[in-house]
Amino acid sequence: MRKRIVAGNWKMNKTLDEALALTTEVVGMINDEVRGEVGVVLCPPSVYLPLLGKLTEGSRVGLGAQNCHQKASGAYTGEVSTPMLASLGIGYVLVGHSERRQYFGENDALLAEKTKAALAEGLVPIFCCGESLDERQNQDYEAIVKAQLTASLFDLNAEEFGNVVIAYEPIWAIGTGLTASSQQAQDMHAALRAHIAAHYGSTIADDTTILYGGSCNEKNAAELFACPDVDGGLIGGASLKSREFTNIVKARM
Ligand code: PGA
Repeated sequence: MRKRIVAGNWKMNKTLDEALALTTEVVGMINDEVRGEVGVVLCPPSVYLPLLGKLTEGSRVGLGAQNCHQKASGAYTGEVSTPMLASLGIGYVLVGHSERRQYFGENDALLAEKTKAALAEGLVPIFCCGESLDERQNQDYEAIVKAQLTASLFDLNAEEFGNVVIAYEPIWAIGTGLTASSQQAQDMHAALRAHIAAHYGSTIADDTTILYGGSCNEKNAAELFACPDVDGGLIGGASLKSREFTNIVKARM
């Protein structure tokens, strides 16, 4: 089902006290101010998930992890598996964020495994894709992003694929203050939806939730979300402030 979702990716930020305070504020504001069908997800550092789960319980704010390991268990020191995340009762996990691809060497094949590991535990993978500045300026960037989907997702059967959320995040717009224009976002989202339709058919493509991420903030969110193929946002820096994050969610109501 195509959904409206705004997810906050805190990345490696916030101490425990700060995480508790931010979550308490967001839960309060969202419960008081947000109506309608928009799903709200916070992706804090995994170490905080159990405690934050107590704050979000019974609220309309869900939780997601920022990463997972592809194996269910075993000798993988320092890693967190999808059965562990599922046992916390959380709903989502980011897969293939560009920072994971760039700094941790995550490639298409590994991300296919991580996506399958998430789906096997009933978690919704938020699969991140996007092109670099060099690719945008000098190459067929649409083909590059489509190829990321093909390589990591298109082995899934239709039912599995129906549980994946896509997040298009142009790398040149992440944390840079350079947002894609709403036209650039709409063009890529439409191209990805057409690519999905060519493989899975138009019904599944129409039902796929595609989020935009990359310097989305309370000023530009409404314009981005007004694009017909932009279903919501994956928000980094602006998700670290409760008022701004809530305002972005309200732009998606
Ligand atoms: P940004 O990050 O909003 O700070 O650009 C988005 C993301 O990396 O998910």
